[in-house]
Amino acid sequence: MSFDSKIEAALNAQINNELNASYTYLAMAAYFESEDLPGFAAWFRGHAAEENDHAMKIFDFIYKRDGNVELNGIEKPKAKYGSAKDAVAYALAHEKIVTGQIHEIFSMCNSQKDFGTQNMLHWFLEEQVEEEDLFRRILAQVEATGGNKWYLTQLDNQLERGDTGETAK
Ligand code: FEO
Repeated sequence: MSFDSKIEAALNAQINNELNASYTYLAMAAYFESEDLPGFAAWFRGHAAEENDHAMKIFDFIYKRDGNVELNGIEKPKAKYGSAKDAVAYALAHEKIVTGQIHEIFSMCNSQKDFGTQNMLHWFLEEQVEEEDLFRRILAQVEATGGNKWYLTQLDNQLERGDTGETAK
């Protein structure tokens, strides 16, 4: 079955969305560096790399389906935040937007009967559930500091050690 052009365009747009997320998190890493919170900075930097991997997953899939990748411009990311809480809340909201984008393509695949693409998107559906859960957890921890710099530094140390409070699933 040939690759539907609407699905191909939607996947291309999603490459852009994932790269956009990557750039947003890289800008957050820069923000946290400037706030002397290296644990948060490293955590967001890791997430920027993950989003880049997500884009490449779709990139490779498009060529597997004999389609073509067309890259678009990436928006200038938000660089300043009022607080750590604001930044993490923004990141969680951004993840929810990405979840909506994946759902949109998933349902488009239904109407086009593109079950191969839909199958590939299962990985993204699961990833979004995990990412939203993780970002929500970090946000709760940041909120629990009440903006207290000492507690925030403890949380920063925790993130620097790679401890996000996640349980093995
Ligand atoms: Fe690739 Fe965090 O969405």
